[in-house]
Amino acid sequence: MSLLALEWDAAAGRDGRGALRILDQTLLPTVTEHLVVEDVDTLVDAIGRLAVRGAPALGVTGALGVVVAMDQAADEGWDEDRLRREVDRVRDARPTAVNLAWGVDAVRPLVPQGRAAVLEAALRVAREDEAANRELSRLAADWLLERTGKERLRVLTHCNAGVLATSAWGTALGVVRELDARGLVEFVYADETRPLLQGARLTAWELAAEGIPHAVQADGAAASTIMRGLVDCAVVGADRITANGDVANKVGTLGVALACREAGIPLLVAAPWSTVDLAMADGSEIEIEERPGEEVTMLTGVRVAPEGTPGFNPAFDVTPARLVTAVATERGVVEPAAGDRLDGSSDG
Ligand code: MRU
Repeated sequence: MSLLALEWDAAAGRDGRGALRILDQTLLPTVTEHLVVEDVDTLVDAIGRLAVRGAPALGVTGALGVVVAMDQAADEGWDEDRLRREVDRVRDARPTAVNLAWGVDAVRPLVPQGRAAVLEAALRVAREDEAANRELSRLAADWLLERTGKERLRVLTHCNAGVLATSAWGTALGVVRELDARGLVEFVYADETRPLLQGARLTAWELAAEGIPHAVQADGAAASTIMRGLVDCAVVGADRITANGDVANKVGTLGVALACREAGIPLLVAAPWSTVDLAMADGSEIEIEERPGEEVTMLTGVRVAPEGTPGFNPAFDVTPARLVTAVATERGVVEPAAGDRLDGSSDG
């Protein structure tokens, strides 16, 4: 059983030319099923319903998605215009994580050089993502130990920022994995992450597979867990980090950040540099994905709100830089709450 969110399967696809293989995360943790993606409709659908998800994994999906579109173009005789439009559909399949557009844009200029060049570049995007995640995890673990002064850490995390959200290793869960490899994790509280339960279904699955002590808690329990002194830090991933250090991440992160500030414990955001969007000055520019209300009014396919009650379902929120104690990328750790900016300029 592969734990990876996605892979290029060199043996799959028409005439064995290779195809994108995605682990369908909507079915986890009970069913492990892969999708072989050979057309843009299937890919856009997989991204939209979160079969593949998590910002860095979306970046790699975007890059490999260009190859999927090129293969379909060859099969169906598309002209350049059609190919451009279909690649745009992949790029725009979800708006908040900058990595998706970044992954597409990283390889798209190579299209005139042909499929082999695009595929090679897309596979490099995946390799570099794993390397970045490992390095940022090491840097973040060092920072957390120094900042908290603790010998073993009790960590709270929100959503899933693990292997399943990246090409490999993970970001926030990569930090946990790094600490665990050093024998320094005491306990992890995983917020369940309503409405789609990425914490309960995915983070808990990864932690259980690693044998890391953990529990799932309702999102509404997080503030109290923090205020009761049950955790030493919160570690989360990100979908987009703007130049001033504002952070878009799974809805609910802002509440965790507020509680962390009140309790005086650090909120560390772990993300590869591909999640940093220096073109945006601050979080007010970030488009927050609004998903169908039924995801909130229903729970695993069963209606829990009265018939006729609509759901309000923003998928992400923006935590202002003043609440972000640290952002760890493979390039180092910056401290937005202390005035550090991601673009290196000073905050006055
Ligand atoms: O809607 P999702 O599941 O794609 O949201 C994912 C998150 O918010 C993650 O925390 C973020 O993408 C970082 S993943 C390393």
